[in-house]
Amino acid sequence: MESVIIFDTTLRDGEQSPGASMTTEEKIKIALGLERLGVDVIEAGFAASSPGDFEAIAQIAALVQKSTVCSLARAVPSDIEAAAKAIAKAPKKRIHTFIATSPIHMEYKLKLTPNKVIAKAIEAVRLAKSFTDDVEFSCEDASRSEMPFLKEILSAVVEAGATTLNLPDTVGYRFPNEIGTMIAELASFIGNKAILSVHCHNDLGQATANAVYGILNGARQVECTINGLGERAGNTALEEVAMILKTRKDLFGNLTTNINTQEIYGISKLVADITGIRPQPNKAIVGKNAFAHESGIHQDGVLKNPETYEIMRPNDIGIPENNGLVLGKHSGRAAFKDKILALGYKNISEEEFQNAFERFKELCDNKKEIFDDDIRAILGEETTHIPQIFVLECLQVSVCSNGQHCSAVSITKNGETLSDSALGNGAVDSILKTIDRVSGQCSTLKDYKVEAVTSGKDALAKVVVKVQFESNKPAIIGHGVDIDTLTATAKAYISALNNYFDMKDLISNKEGMCL
Ligand code: KIV
Ligand code: ZN
Repeated sequence: MESVIIFDTTLRDGEQSPGASMTTEEKIKIALGLERLGVDVIEAGFAASSPGDFEAIAQIAALVQKSTVCSLARAVPSDIEAAAKAIAKAPKKRIHTFIATSPIHMEYKLKLTPNKVIAKAIEAVRLAKSFTDDVEFSCEDASRSEMPFLKEILSAVVEAGATTLNLPDTVGYRFPNEIGTMIAELASFIGNKAILSVHCHNDLGQATANAVYGILNGARQVECTINGLGERAGNTALEEVAMILKTRKDLFGNLTTNINTQEIYGISKLVADITGIRPQPNKAIVGKNAFAHESGIHQDGVLKNPETYEIMRPNDIGIPENNGLVLGKHSGRAAFKDKILALGYKNISEEEFQNAFERFKELCDNKKEIFDDDIRAILGEETTHIPQIFVLECLQVSVCSNGQHCSAVSITKNGETLSDSALGNGAVDSILKTIDRVSGQCSTLKDYKVEAVTSGKDALAKVVVKVQFESNKPAIIGHGVDIDTLTATAKAYISALNNYFDMKDLISNKEGMCL
């Protein structure tokens, strides 16, 4: 069997999705999930872009054991040095350096002659090679570059030591047959001197098809993201590539991946929860409706034999067959521990376990059936390592005679109780105004989403907020889960506040750097 290398860039290109910025702790959770999933290379960020990115890559490099940890770097020495420093602790490390090669990018963006571009690429690869053997070189906008120039620059960087050559369709312009032709020509030109890689954007909805045509024509690495996140319309979705190679083995000879597809559902949910960006319901593989049969004829067929309408089983991607109904009021600590291990939470501390178990018991008092997703939601809250400077103690909301809402909130700040109340136009407005008052902040709510964690009238509410605490700085995400939507709102806002205090120094430097 020959393996296609799965290179995940959720933490780098994925984070370039508008509104998807993540905290270091969230990135670590995702990186560990990607390692469990069997991703070969994790692009953990772009070290030179901000102190926050550097810090997240360094922490991921120190934790991830099995996957290669990679940092992006422009073809400039300071970027490459920052990337090398950030990945230094990783047992397996890669530097991924890039420069644009299309006429339009070289002339208007870089303002460099093609010869200068080649010289910079060689210098970058040589420097990267002095830090690690594993060096990837990308021709940004490769799919709009001229073939003779691609051949010239690729030969030069292979000579300088590049081991992977990535050919991005940066602007998502090409069609599968065009990507196939480009890769086939370069595969026969490069031979076995380096691994060819594809990196496709989804502007015309072709990202996965393009990546697959790359594989069919000789690419042996695919760059992709969970849920297809990424700049503009996103990147090739990892889950689609993995399931295409598994489901249509007949088309790929003996090609396989190291992906454990049963981890797909869990990591997709984790990324959606953290970024607040849910896949569209009809998204292939991980959309809410991907395995739902609505029409009576289809339901009848599936009941008789699932293969009448299902080319994959929900369980193939880790959706529990029994609908995930698990524990109840009478379940004890041992059953709860078994369950959370089965859900992939392997590194939780005794204190986190106790807190999660207490939340689980409280939930059992208020909710008839407890599903895997309920437990995931509780664990997501209880396994935070961000210092909890602010903690919600008590919330009361009432409607005044003039129709305005009034909230009374008590929170603790480093253990000291603070209380206040405020009026607002609606319950959410009054809660957030009150929390701003007690915490001394003046913030802007940029996004607010509420959804039910599972089905049923007694479902847990999950609220995701994006809050801007300083103008011209990134908005910070916060999550809150509770049986009561307004309490979940207050918790989400307070979690954003705690994240903000944790990231304050890093955020104050995060302006401007983009690809
Ligand atoms: O789309 C692109 O060209 C990129 C490169 C930096 C690899 O993301
Ligand atoms: Zn990209």
